Amino acid sequence: KDTITVGLLGLGTVGSGVIEILEDHKESIQHKTGCNVTIKTVLVNNLSKPRDLKNTSTKLTDRYEDITQDPEIDVVVEVMGGIDHTLTILREAIENGKHIVTANKDLVAQHGDELFEASYRNKCDLFYEASVAGGIPIIRSILDGLSSDKIRKMMGIVNGTTNYILTKMTKEGVDFDAVLKEAQELGFAEADPTADVDGLDAARKMTILSILGFSMPFNLEDVEIKGIRGISLADIQYAEQLGYSVKLIGVAEHDDTGVAVSVEPTLLPIEHPLSSVNDEYNAVYVYGDAVGETMFYGPGAGKLPTATAVVSDLIAVVKSLRLGTSGTAYVQPQFSKQVKEKKD
Ligand code: NDP
Ligand code: HSE
Repeated sequence: KDTITVGLLGLGTVGSGVIEILEDHKESIQHKTGCNVTIKTVLVNNLSKPRDLKNTSTKLTDRYEDITQDPEIDVVVEVMGGIDHTLTILREAIENGKHIVTANKDLVAQHGDELFEASYRNKCDLFYEASVAGGIPIIRSILDGLSSDKIRKMMGIVNGTTNYILTKMTKEGVDFDAVLKEAQELGFAEADPTADVDGLDAARKMTILSILGFSMPFNLEDVEIKGIRGISLADIQYAEQLGYSVKLIGVAEHDDTGVAVSVEPTLLPIEHPLSSVNDEYNAVYVYGDAVGETMFYGPGAGKLPTATAVVSDLIAVVKSLRLGTSGTAYVQPQFSKQVKEKKD
């Protein structure tokens, strides 16, 4: 095939970034894959919103069947969010033989096992790099780059919105509500920003990292979660006077007695490297038995960084289609679950 045809679900912050990258990097993508990648149809909620589709032949629809049931569409890129309805759409797309790229951590954390199994059964690819830490290629690093090692611990900042809020509160003394509004306007926050603020988004990402890093079947219920809602400007200023920063830190640790996963606001000495991870940036330490300590850093949210991860996944799908290796990226947990009791 010389042309790979894509159906895009969602044209908000990330979806518009996907269109922009595919247009701006068209030649280099064609060079790398030997293919033209073209978006045929885009699903949105509101057909009357003004849109910049770049390619005049791309059609907008509000019927997902126009994508899942179109035999010309090879790959479905899901950047609309949501869980139950989105699961129904992706199930149908996979059963119709479509390869999937998704940025949806809510869906992967909650229904990843079903989607992995369905895509494997149908020999379809399923990639989800953007679901954890936006533009940082952390999933590929864990699954491929560190696959020979035994990962013992993953720790870091995996939510851009809360890191942006804590940074602005610390550096500019701005109050919580005003800076949350700013993070929403910048496109960092989830459609329902309570998922960010209450630690759920970070917990979903730590769930995905734990499944992949420890090769065990985790769910969100296994994570101890505390968000940043209770943190005041006074708390942050007091911590700063004592030489600490306040960060929302996710930790997933595997020792001989089992695994513990948590997300909670944490006091870090200001000289700690994670203290200088600011704004919407994320950073994740991964500790392996053999490799020792590694650190991954970069933009954790936002239009182009996230779309970079999505389009890179799309390129991986195109390459595997051309090589005839589709569906081989299936991830099945190797070990049974050993979760330690939560602290409270
Ligand atoms: P937005 O809210 O900006 O965009 C969502 C898009 O999906 C909109 O175009 C909306 O349509 C469309 N949409 C939503 N629900 C439906 C539906 N039921 N039927 C049809 N269309 C629908 O979200 P983002 O782009 O910020 O995020 C998209 C996904 O990417 C989410 O899963 C998010 O968690 C994930 N993500 C986001 C990041 C970010 O920095 N923003 C980073 C990493 C992952 P309409 O335009 O008509 O409203
Ligand atoms: N709302 C998420 C965040 C988007 O702020 O990190 C990136 O996953």
